[in-house]
Order: sequence, then structure tokens, then C-alpha cells
Amino acid sequence: MHTEGYQGRYSFPRSKLKVLLLENIHPDAVRAFREEGYDVTTVKGALDEDDLIEALQGVHILGLRSKTNLTAKAVEAADKLMAVAAFCIGTNQIDLKACSQKGIAVFNAPYSNTRSVVEMVMGLTVILTRNIYDKSVQMHTGKWDKSATGAHEVRGKTLGIIGYGAIGSQLSILSEAFGMRVIYFDLAEKLTLGNAKRYRSLDALLAEADVVSLHVDGRGENKNIFGAAQFARMKDGALFINLSRGHVVDIDALAAALKSGKIYGAAVDVFPEEPRTNDDPFESPLMGLKNLILTPHIGGSTEEAQEAIAEFASERLLNFLNRGDTTFSVNMPHVQLSEVEGRHRFLHLHKNVPGVLAAINVIMAKYELNVLAQHLKTNEALGYVIVDVDRGYPKEALEELKAVNGTLKFRSLV
Ligand SMILES: NC(=O)c1ccc[n+]([C@@H]2O[C@H](COP(=O)([O-])OP(=O)(O)OC[C@H]3O[C@@H](n4cnc5c(N)ncnc54)[C@H](O)[C@@H]3O)[C@@H](O)[C@H]2O)c1
Repeated sequence: MHTEGYQGRYSFPRSKLKVLLLENIHPDAVRAFREEGYDVTTVKGALDEDDLIEALQGVHILGLRSKTNLTAKAVEAADKLMAVAAFCIGTNQIDLKACSQKGIAVFNAPYSNTRSVVEMVMGLTVILTRNIYDKSVQMHTGKWDKSATGAHEVRGKTLGIIGYGAIGSQLSILSEAFGMRVIYFDLAEKLTLGNAKRYRSLDALLAEADVVSLHVDGRGENKNIFGAAQFARMKDGALFINLSRGHVVDIDALAAALKSGKIYGAAVDVFPEEPRTNDDPFESPLMGLKNLILTPHIGGSTEEAQEAIAEFASERLLNFLNRGDTTFSVNMPHVQLSEVEGRHRFLHLHKNVPGVLAAINVIMAKYELNVLAQHLKTNEALGYVIVDVDRGYPKEALEELKAVNGTLKFRSLV
């Protein structure tokens, strides 16, 4: 500790903090850590549990994507791990409970591909409304069918958005810019943007929408929320788009609605069962249907989104390392913190048990530390105390702070 002394900014030299980035994480993230002086190792592919356990020895920071499983066993074996970032959207591959029990902060990049999904929905809406996809398929078989029948503008049509979260609300803005009328249904209270109108009944929305686009999250209760009854309530000849989660739509009911002509067209990017790799085959009752665009879960897959993920996730990790900031953490109490300037900062992460703050304050008083700022934030599992103190304090104070009952992690920033 304090190898850079009181004049340095950090109590532990950055070059001694090891960062391991797996799965070909974007070079921007590698650069960001190297520029800040951290010791970075990169690995091209994913690691299985045994290789991960070995690779994690002595590692303080881990970056992974969706193909590496950070299991409870790997977390348990990680001797120095302080924080993990999923350089993607989901965190299902990380044992969050095990991380919380060890006081390891977990981050992800939940909004970095929002715009990519929204742009794809806009494009699909226009393509379906103009029947462009089927015309193109016909052209590839030598058929020239120049006609306006069944082709429409999106201007003036009603878009019904189900799930008005990050993606749904951004779609609301872009589709209004295209001249569409927007109505939405969400289970939760939401800030309505632009001229959009909230509907409190899904059935009322379905009865009015020319295009229905699903943007709900993947919670278990959303399984098959869209089935035969919902397709039946849609306007005859309306369009249906799902770029949310595969299990929310009853695929057989969608196939039936398309075959019967109840809906005029659809675009589907997510499926109840998806091939695990590009080498595995795709099978679905939707294959071969007319005016149906199928895409392999690429709504968020753009180079811009990859870049945005690299920037967002590495910034979360760097702010955590350099300041103790836990904003956007998946498992830590959220505390937004400024740079550490002209002061010391103690970061004390503990199990959420009573009496920890009191014990910390007793130590502060005993060593007559001059407190400049203090924060305590808790969630169900963890408590996070941040104390900024004046320069100068005896090292025994640190030892005592580390020994407070319930402490999971303690570090100091200078
Ligand atoms: N296709 C892709 O590549 C891709 C990329 C990114 C995200 N997604 C998926 O898109 C979906 C939306 O993402 P987001 O970032 O906007 O999520 P979000 O959590 O910001 O928004 C989801 C919204 O849906 C609402 N909701 C949940 N269940 C509902 C229900 N039954 N009825 C009405 N509203 C409901 C929630 O209240 C919330 O407002 C997620 O399922 C996500 O996994 C897909």
C-alpha cells in the first residue's frame, strides 16, 4: 500500500493492477486501460471453467462477453478479483450472487446497442409496409412485379409499441420523425416522449395499431404474452415486429396469423430456441412464410454498438477503480463519486449487517481523522461506505478499518 506515497494519486500503483480481457473485447477498451497505466492481458476466445480459474489468479479486473461463464467456483477461486464487466448487455453468464458474497462489483453496458435495435425496427417497418422484401425475393427468381398494390407509406400510420423502456421510448422518437402516430403500452409508469400516447389496455392498442412492435424485457412472466388471442385482436392486415425476446411470442400462433392473412407481414429477430453457434442449424415453423423477414438475433449487432459497449463498460470499470464510483453496477449499491483530489478516500464494502457505519466512525474518531465527506448506501446484500478524509493518517487506522466485522473489501485511494 501507499507505494506512490501521499504525493501520488493512488495508494496502489496502477501498473500492479491486473486487467484480464477475454473474448476479443474491442481494442478501444484495451487502449483505455493501457492509457491509464493498468497491466492488461487479452485473450481472443472464451475460457472454460478450469482455464478461467487458472487465468484469474492474481487478476483484479475481468472483462468478458457472453461466452465465458463466471461460475460460483471460478469466483470462489479468484484471489484478487475486485470487479467484472460484461462487455455486452446481459449478465446471465455471471454468478451475481457469488460475486456479491465476495464483494466483487459487476457492471454491464445496458444501453449501448439501443440505437442499433431502433434503427433496425425503423428499417423493417418501411420494408414491410412497402412489401420490399417479397419483391426482392421475387426478383432473385427472375420475377419483375412492378405494382403499387399493397405498398404504403409509413407516414400517418399508427405504431403500437409494447414495452416503453430504453428501446421502446427511443423508437417512439424516431418513428414520430417518420410521421407515424405512436401509442404504447407498458406495465410500469413511463415518461411519455414527444406526442406518443400511453394506452392502459393492451387490447385497445392492438385494435388501433397498423404496426405492433414488441420491446418488453425477458422476465419469466413474459413467456408467450403474445399468442393467438393477441393476434386475433390486431387489425386485419397489420404488421408485427419482434426484436425483444424469443420466448415472449407463441411462434405457432404467429405462423398461423401469417398463413391466414390476419397479419400482412412480420419481422422476427429473436426465437424461443436459437442455434448456439453459427455452425448449428436454425429450425422454426416460421421458415418459408411469405412477407416474413427472419434475422439471426442481430438487432443490436453493429460495429457502433460494439464500440459503444467498449467505451461504456471500460468507463464504468475505470470510474470504479479510480474513484470508487458504482453507478450502473448490476449488484452494488449505486454511488456516484467525483475524482479524488487533495484528499484520501476510503472505500469500505461490507455485508449488509447492522452496526458497520458506527464501527467505522468509532475508528475515525479514535485516530482523529478529519472527515470531509461520508456516504453510506446499501442494497439487500451489501453496504458501501465511502469516507473522504484530510491528508495524513496512521496506517493502523487502515488495518482497523479492514478488520471491521462484516468487511468484504477495503481499499484506499490517495
Ligand atoms: N434483438 C436484439 O439484438 C436485442 C438487442 C438489445 C435488446 N434486446 C431486447 O429488447 C428488449 C427491450 O430492451 P430495453 O433495453 O428497452 O429494456 P428495458 O428494460 O429498458 O424496457 C423494457 C420495458 O418493457 C416493460 N415491460 C415488461 N414486461 C411488459 C409487459 N408484459 N407488458 C408491457 N410492458 C412490459 C418494462 O416495464 C420496461 O419499460 C429486451 O427484451 C432486450 O433483451 C434485443
